[in-house]
Amino acid sequence: MDLYQAILNRRSVRRYRNEPLDREMLEMVDDIVARARPLFPENRFRVMRRDVVSGEDLIAAMGGYGRVVSPPHYLVAHTMGNRMPLVDLGYRLEQICVQMVQLGISVCFIGSLGRENNVRIRFRLPRGGRTGAFLLFGHAAETVTGRTINAVIRRASGGVTRLKPEEIYFDGSFDRPAPPAKHLTKLIEAARRAPSSNNAQPWRFLWRDDTLWLLLHKRNARYGGNPVLQEYRYFDGGICMANLMLAIEALDLPGEISLVQNTDLPIPASPETLEPLAKVVLN
Ligand SMILES: Cc1cc2nc3c(=O)[nH]c(=O)nc-3n(C[C@H](O)[C@H](O)[C@H](O)COP(=O)(O)O)c2cc1C
Repeated sequence: MDLYQAILNRRSVRRYRNEPLDREMLEMVDDIVARARPLFPENRFRVMRRDVVSGEDLIAAMGGYGRVVSPPHYLVAHTMGNRMPLVDLGYRLEQICVQMVQLGISVCFIGSLGRENNVRIRFRLPRGGRTGAFLLFGHAAETVTGRTINAVIRRASGGVTRLKPEEIYFDGSFDRPAPPAKHLTKLIEAARRAPSSNNAQPWRFLWRDDTLWLLLHKRNARYGGNPVLQEYRYFDGGICMANLMLAIEALDLPGEISLVQNTDLPIPASPETLEPLAKVVLN
């Protein structure tokens, strides 16, 4: 599957065929993990691949929501470091997701922000290591029953509706919501299809002076009332950045993505409710 198509085709799959991937496929997964590009190379990034033990209730143990049926494997990843560890983690894990989808493997993130301490103890992770979410993977159950169950759980998990492009894209200033300019349509579509905890979709985009700015909503009701859970916006923001980076590469666009903290450009004024995360300069 071509890279851009894989970005669009990725969906959270919650009903798996009850069988492990073969050894060759698992080695390919390990290779994809090893090649994930960092946002900050100085952040430590470690990934453990595990098989799901039969009967293990991963969602309850990890603090996620909803229901997932018979996933055979999962990745437990963590970052350590002072430089936006959750953004970096989302950025690296989404690259891994999209490349697994390219191989025909199905995936689903399970959030763990409310349970990070338990997760650290259970997997003997270092104190201060950030886990954000687990990544379940395997072959989707392709039978009619499997697909139906997946669709039902998907609907129950709130993962069906996406904000429209004109609800997240602004042309020149924040009082001008609009459909994306033609040359940005595919890029925005890749960003819009990013997964997010509770389908919160915290991202907004401002196009100004040949630059696409990515901003995040500071508060998202969908993450819940606990302030710790509001940090999902950083993990989800990193995921969105990965989709933009991969789409730039797949579409061979003359641009690159960088964090706003690394920019000399003046950051445009934005509403109080938003915080700038990254920008894509298109030449
Ligand atoms: C950080 C994160 C945590 C998530 N946690 C869960 C979870 O606990 N349970 C679940 O069923 N889906 C979970 N998801 C999947 C989202 O519900 C899903 O991405 C969203 O509804 C959009 O649907 P899609 O991924 O099929 O495009 C999570 C996704 C992310 C990015």
